[in-house]
Amino acid sequence: MCGIIGYNGSLNAQDLILEGLSKIEYRGYDSAGLAILEAKGKVALVKTKGGVAELEAKIDGDQRGKMGIGHTRWATHGIPSVKNAHPHKSTNFYIVHNGIIENHAEIADFLADQGFGKLQSDTDTEVLAWLLEYNYQKSENIRSALAATLNGVRGAFGLAIIHRDTPNVLYVARRSSPIVIAELEHGFMVASDVTAIPPEATHATYLDDDQFAVITPASMRVYNMSHDLVNHTNVKLDLDRKAHGKDGEQHFMMKEILEQPTSVAETIRGRLDKTRYDAVLGGLNMDEESARKLRSLTSVACGTAHYSSVLASYLLEEVVDIPLRAEVASEFLYRNQRYEVGQDMVLAVSQSGETADTIAAINKMGLKGVRTFGIVNAVGSTISRITDGGTYLRCGPEIAVASTKAFTSQVVAQLMLGLRINSLRGNPIKNNRSTVESLLKLPAELEKTIQQVSEPIVTAAQKVDPYNQVMFLGRGSLYPMALEGALKYKEITYTPAQAHPAGEMKHGPLALIDKDTVVVYLLREGSLLDKSLSNLREIEARKGKVLVITDSAKLHKQREDSILIPGSTDINSPLLFNVALQLLAYHVANKRGLSIDKPRNLAKSVTVE
Ligand code: M6R
Repeated sequence: MCGIIGYNGSLNAQDLILEGLSKIEYRGYDSAGLAILEAKGKVALVKTKGGVAELEAKIDGDQRGKMGIGHTRWATHGIPSVKNAHPHKSTNFYIVHNGIIENHAEIADFLADQGFGKLQSDTDTEVLAWLLEYNYQKSENIRSALAATLNGVRGAFGLAIIHRDTPNVLYVARRSSPIVIAELEHGFMVASDVTAIPPEATHATYLDDDQFAVITPASMRVYNMSHDLVNHTNVKLDLDRKAHGKDGEQHFMMKEILEQPTSVAETIRGRLDKTRYDAVLGGLNMDEESARKLRSLTSVACGTAHYSSVLASYLLEEVVDIPLRAEVASEFLYRNQRYEVGQDMVLAVSQSGETADTIAAINKMGLKGVRTFGIVNAVGSTISRITDGGTYLRCGPEIAVASTKAFTSQVVAQLMLGLRINSLRGNPIKNNRSTVESLLKLPAELEKTIQQVSEPIVTAAQKVDPYNQVMFLGRGSLYPMALEGALKYKEITYTPAQAHPAGEMKHGPLALIDKDTVVVYLLREGSLLDKSLSNLREIEARKGKVLVITDSAKLHKQREDSILIPGSTDINSPLLFNVALQLLAYHVANKRGLSIDKPRNLAKSVTVE
């Protein structure tokens, strides 16, 4: 969602803020702004519709101030526009916000009754600046005013705030929306996302919920909402956050698709034991007795991360003797399924580790005492800190909004977890062995797939591009790939795309088939092939155009314009099909000249429910 930056130090704040904003622009990019405190009482405020490039273009000259705040917005309340862009201001306070103030209407009414705040925007944020102003007038102390303000707020916030008459102090606060603070040689940098912290910072402090910090160029103090000073810890930062280039590719998405052979090799590095056919997962923190008591695993996740669990739930059926139930976090939250302490474990699967629905689901389980396990890419993120155990994906920063390499690593991480639990439960290692052997071959097979399908997919994309409706079909473990393929396709091409288990066609979706529909049909060699071919003929009999993606060399020969995927094991094969689907979505979007890395209406990290 929105990105926040703040700086207080001895260098030019504007340069550092613009640099930081450009690194987190993927969090939100419909408008941007910054406020630089140039001198006591003098603040330069610049806001624009659009992204950081538009903001830079609008800045008139170099503001020399050494403290400031900046923001990239993903609209929740109010359309993208200059008036709705952050920072928002009251008489004295300038504020940038990530999250949602649920009781903003109540606060606005309260302020109006007090004769306070002529609101200029349609946002839920502006009332915060005015409530702070109101509380400041009462207490004449910014810290007390801040605590009083935040105690009166319902919802989620990551905030950075400056007061125009207090040149040396920057304020930040957090509830359910991350804030990281790093000390540099020349001052302090704060951000909603560690990727915006300059590479020279080796350590940082993550605020906990309901904390705020008071930062001068030389010091930082953290308080709780009762206004008491609290201890904070400095954690070591992941150096990987430096990896920011596109490696010569036009888009991050293509770079990240091509990276999969190496990123997945990182995910499994040192974690697969080839002699004992086991996985080494130091963060599981589980003994044999606890593993034997387990009756089920449930994953809570959103979007692509959820589909990684849907696929893992199919694949783990052959590995471990307890089921993995894949649940959409936002649904799971409001259901009342029964979970037994000791018998269930809930997995939070997330690239960013900051997805609000997934965090809320984990908190719900944590309160019930159910064991939780994080499968996360972003080191130090909220999910990695609130789960009982966990493992990192280690696939490197994923910048494109469309998730690609993280998906592959998420599936592999869940398989490794299944392997480890299987061993701890004392089950025969038969299935572990084929899974370990298979996963070890995955990087090379992904490489081969990329080489083999890259060209034919460009041609296929040209044929699929003219259609305004696309259907993705698959059976067995290729059904989750159809789901993921359709998500990727709609996300970056803006074309309606749906996915079904191929066997469901006659139960409804077949009614949609006509000459204007293209079906991307995923077909694997094996016992379901004949049945699937019958479904395919039913589609063609109704004039639907079909693009076959298959690992059957025989079928590929029969259908000239099909895409051939390298043959592989049951475990690896769906992930190879997925590469073709990622590339298909990419090339169609690219042909249409769309904004591939930052698709409209979306953001990389969804930090509001
Ligand atoms: O950071 P997370 O993995 O928790 O994000 C979950 C989804 O928001 C994310 O996978 C989303 O569906 C992607 N943009 C899809 O490509």
